[in-house]
Amino acid sequence: MDTSLVTEFQRSDAAESSAPAYLRLRRLLRQRVESGAMGPGHALPSERELAQQLTLSRVTVRKAIAGLVEDGVLIQRRGAGTFVAERIVKPLSKITSFTEDLRARGLNPRSVFLEREVGEVTPEEAMALNLSPGSLVVRLHRLRYAGDEPLAEERSAIPHSILKDPNLVKDSLYAALDSLGCRPVRALQRLRAVNLSAAQARLLNVAVGGAALAVERRSFLADGRLVEFTSSWYRGDAYDFVAELQGE
Ligand code: GLP
Repeated sequence: MDTSLVTEFQRSDAAESSAPAYLRLRRLLRQRVESGAMGPGHALPSERELAQQLTLSRVTVRKAIAGLVEDGVLIQRRGAGTFVAERIVKPLSKITSFTEDLRARGLNPRSVFLEREVGEVTPEEAMALNLSPGSLVVRLHRLRYAGDEPLAEERSAIPHSILKDPNLVKDSLYAALDSLGCRPVRALQRLRAVNLSAAQARLLNVAVGGAALAVERRSFLADGRLVEFTSSWYRGDAYDFVAELQGE
């Protein structure tokens, strides 16, 4: 057992005894994650152990932890316990692929295809890709995993004139485009915070209404042609987007 946690909790008890115990414990655990005292992947003691050491009821401990799980600070794995959530840090300024981002972090990217087909552009795709109505696109709808954990839902449209065969995309769209000499060199990206719909929450294995980052990317080839229009919904508890900003 982490004795400093016990000491700090006792100290918070003395300092702000009017605050409910579950809130003080929640705040304390959050501070320890934010300060790095408990790093990503750190395993918390069991509820029973925490309750015993802090002389709290298990209900109080459960309530403190539930709030942090909801906020994506902690994750619970059935049968294994409670851990500090691992976040995937994605640099915003480079055009990297999902596969590359995960591999760079030593994780195992995997995709499940929900759709992989050739079809006529929808009005939204036609606008985004600057195509005329009736043009063909390759459409991919994928659930993207790190190992067994679903991280993002992703829908991509690629002009058929660039990618003829959807089955060329195995694990990575960018690897397929690269093999055709059509890897994007520039992209416009839009990020929004959203709450997941019931269907998306089910796919991503999170609570309905859970937070997500919706990212739309329109990518270009060196000659200015649009090569992809992708909408992704990344689980808010699993992804950090980081941008480097420079002065003049
Ligand atoms: C990220 C981007 C998408 C891009 C995808 C390619 O998820 N947001 O716009 O299509 O990477 O990833 P991969 O090459 O692994 O299919």
